Amino acid sequence: MRIALTTGGGDAPGLNAVIRAAVLAAESLGWTVLGIREGYDGLFEPGGVVRLDRNEVRGITHLGGTILGTTNRGDPFDYPVEGPDGATTEDRSDLVVDRLRQEGIDCLIAIGGDGSLAIANKLAAKGVKVIGVPKTIDNDLKATVATFGFHTAVQTATDAIDKLHSTAESHRRVMVVEMMGRHAGWIALFAGVSATADVILIPEIPYDLELVCEKIEERYRRGREFAIVVVAEGAYEVGDAPSYEPDGSAGTPRRLGGQAKKLAKRIGKKTGIEARSLVLGHLQRGGQPIAYDRILSLRFGSAAIELAAKGEFGCMVALDPPDVRAVPLEAAIAERKLVPLDSDVMRTARAMGVSFGD
Ligand code: F6P
Repeated sequence: MRIALTTGGGDAPGLNAVIRAAVLAAESLGWTVLGIREGYDGLFEPGGVVRLDRNEVRGITHLGGTILGTTNRGDPFDYPVEGPDGATTEDRSDLVVDRLRQEGIDCLIAIGGDGSLAIANKLAAKGVKVIGVPKTIDNDLKATVATFGFHTAVQTATDAIDKLHSTAESHRRVMVVEMMGRHAGWIALFAGVSATADVILIPEIPYDLELVCEKIEERYRRGREFAIVVVAEGAYEVGDAPSYEPDGSAGTPRRLGGQAKKLAKRIGKKTGIEARSLVLGHLQRGGQPIAYDRILSLRFGSAAIELAAKGEFGCMVALDPPDVRAVPLEAAIAERKLVPLDSDVMRTARAMGVSFGD
């Protein structure tokens, strides 16, 4: 067997651990492993397809990022190019399939989030033997109980909120912290609850500014003259829509941003209390994976090779405690995993007096 690994979309802590486990597991079967650099771009660049062996993956389990590099601009079905009338996109997927054939790839292991897995699924429809490995700090893939990277991001965000508490209290301020989470509020919810935020705003529940301000004012009346508001980047006010950055180029997903700034301004105006904002941004994707994510990544990497050995293609490895199982790729990308509003974490938060702005 000759297999290729690719990492696509935003990086997440644990990618390197997946790569290491997959390489070692494949080597133990006598297979050859190649790595494609930066999504599928490496297929078209000199030196963009590299041999991965035991030496190449030594000592990387604990490292953040991906030794293969990644991109969110590399969708071969919608590839950004410069046309006569400016930036546009073209379908390069047949070229990808040809290049994989030329490299003699028997199986492609695509490690990525919803976007990368959708690309993998479309390549599978073109005859490529694909196995998906779910990655995203957003934790929004329905078919798996967890994606690696999520728990590390939650830890990073929790540490940040812990630090903000002291400055919020010292200055008697409202601190509004924006977290990643495009469609789902998993990071905001988990970090917000573990770091005892007062208000948590998630995309699943459009918020009412009046209720957010009421919660803050009630704290101040009780003598707790500071507040922590956690807001997911994709959250928005009732009757409004998520806020996006104005820039963006062809072939790149629109970037969310500005929710915390907007909210802090409005809270300040409405309550007369000083409110400041902070965006955690890519800090949440960086650094070493915590142990939970390392072990999950290693299990996913090894499970992907087990599936390849059994000839089970067109599927994705998924955590279904206590096991890692295969689910069809098609089903894996069909539905997004949003925060269930009646889940016990939500109920716990509400029982502790957290406001969701509803
Ligand atoms: O999907 C992971 C994620 O980190 C989202 O939470 C975020 O909206 C997006 O990627 C940001 O991507 P980029 O780094 O490409 O701007």
